[in-house]
Amino acid sequence: MSNIGSYEERLRNFDWSIAADELEFRNGDVINIGWYCSDRICQKGKAGKVALYYEGFAGAEKKYTFNDVRLASNTIGTFLRELGLAKEDRICLFMDRIPELYFSFLGALKIGSIVQPLFSAFGDESLFIRLENAQTRAIITQKKHLSKVRKIKDKLPCLEFIIIVDQHEAKELKEKEISFHLETYTLVDKMDIYPTKAESPSVLHYTSGTTGQPKGVKHVHYSLLSQYLTTKWVLDLQDNDIYWCTADPGWVTGTSYGIIGPWSLGITQCILDSGFSAHSWYRFIEKYKVSVWYSAPTAIRSLMKAGEEIVRNYDLSSLRHLASVGEPLNAEAVIWSEKYFGRPFHDTFWQTETGSIMITNFPGMKIKPGSMGKPFPGIKGTVLDAKTYEPIREPGKIGLIAFKPGWPAMMRTYWNNEEKYREKFVNGWYLSGDRASIDNEGYFWFIGRDDDVINTGGHLVSPFEVESALLEHPAVGESAVVAKPDEINMEVVKAFITLKPGFTPGTDLELEIMNFIRKKLSSVAMPQEIEFMDQLPKTRSGKIMRRLLHAKEWGEEIGDVSTLEND
Ligand code: WT7
Repeated sequence: MSNIGSYEERLRNFDWSIAADELEFRNGDVINIGWYCSDRICQKGKAGKVALYYEGFAGAEKKYTFNDVRLASNTIGTFLRELGLAKEDRICLFMDRIPELYFSFLGALKIGSIVQPLFSAFGDESLFIRLENAQTRAIITQKKHLSKVRKIKDKLPCLEFIIIVDQHEAKELKEKEISFHLETYTLVDKMDIYPTKAESPSVLHYTSGTTGQPKGVKHVHYSLLSQYLTTKWVLDLQDNDIYWCTADPGWVTGTSYGIIGPWSLGITQCILDSGFSAHSWYRFIEKYKVSVWYSAPTAIRSLMKAGEEIVRNYDLSSLRHLASVGEPLNAEAVIWSEKYFGRPFHDTFWQTETGSIMITNFPGMKIKPGSMGKPFPGIKGTVLDAKTYEPIREPGKIGLIAFKPGWPAMMRTYWNNEEKYREKFVNGWYLSGDRASIDNEGYFWFIGRDDDVINTGGHLVSPFEVESALLEHPAVGESAVVAKPDEINMEVVKAFITLKPGFTPGTDLELEIMNFIRKKLSSVAMPQEIEFMDQLPKTRSGKIMRRLLHAKEWGEEIGDVSTLEND
């Protein structure tokens, strides 16, 4: 029997108090995610249960119980507090998927600070923009990422502490740098948890838009209610499960469902800190007997490509429930997984801004391959007419995916950008920026984004950010960045550029430009290709027409070009 039982029944009787009651939270109470995911789970009798199995990229293995997690997060929290870090200070986590990342996340929350997790593959420029925007006071990182931080630290007056978690010789440390090596520290058994309330800020995740710099999505401790209940009902985690979320905590899936969700339920999870390969992933599932697996369509398509032979070499019979997020999950992938894993992938749709799963195929519900499923109970979701912003009643008609605000994990604002936040609401609806249709049985079918943001392998890339990086190269005159089709990643980044006088197109220059922007962008945002153009298509007012370049890449009809200046 799945945790959700009957979806219809849950819809009829739903109230968020179900989550509040299970978490023993009443309005006005203290609620602290860091405390709940460690101390509270220990109090509930799970101190000795394994919370985390970790395997490093070189094969090192480690194992931590909930009590270990409690002690480690207390120790880091206390260390941060002794530095003078406190309530609402932004603390950036800039690490690979090592245990310290997970412990620091809880530790920083325990002292009431705001955690700002950033993907460790970000280049120094991407890091700088986000640290400057959040006025971050401390960054916790590893030796291997230190050079990027060193490059920008002088431009960041707010950044007071650079904390390095590997063993580090004191003489190697430069200004602002502090070594914190957990394994050589005396563990802290008792600490005063900062009494955060429902609306106290917790996590600040950065996401990309079409224009302007990345936006900091501000979440609060009350999000726990959504994250807890969606993990229970959608991912269906049960006491003896071994759970694997393949997402990095630099992105929201890796925190909402890679830390908070499973640990608030006292579930054992495992983490593999290495890149993708079909062999290593199957081996990992077999070794740890993973039963619930939350992954992404690009990974599933890569596994499909690796072929059936390799699946048969591993015992994957531990798998009980599979879910996916981040980009369209094609029908073929659902059918394939059913055939080779004996279970279908259940699609889940949500966003950094929503903080928790919004639309999904629930365990036990009929799956229509290719469809995202139905809204979570308590979530009012619809598609709106793009002109009137009224809900569309006709089945099958495409509209804008929208939700009625009010669920616990909804973002509270964009950091220092209330204006952009307000733009997301129309007629009392929150606009996701995506398009879909709803069929006559209430299933949502994803169509695409409603803006120019590129979704490559589940990572959102702002064309603006890539274009800006390109423009900083002395040879680049103008740039336009669009998505190009790709078998595995669905979309990859393609750049069109014009050159300044005196520069000649060619592979050498292409390589030079690529190397130049690699330092500024994260690996996921890197263009796969740069095409040199004599001029870029523009509107009469001089705006570059990405739409036209996009259509060219996808072999689509170009449509109305009457406003083009130089077609
Ligand atoms: C955007 C949000 C929160 C999960 C990680 C991504 C796209 C997300 C699906 C899905 C089709 C999806 C949307 C959305 N997306 N899930 N199941 N099917 N598209 O978080 O980086 O904030 O991206 O990812 O375009 O708006 P994010």
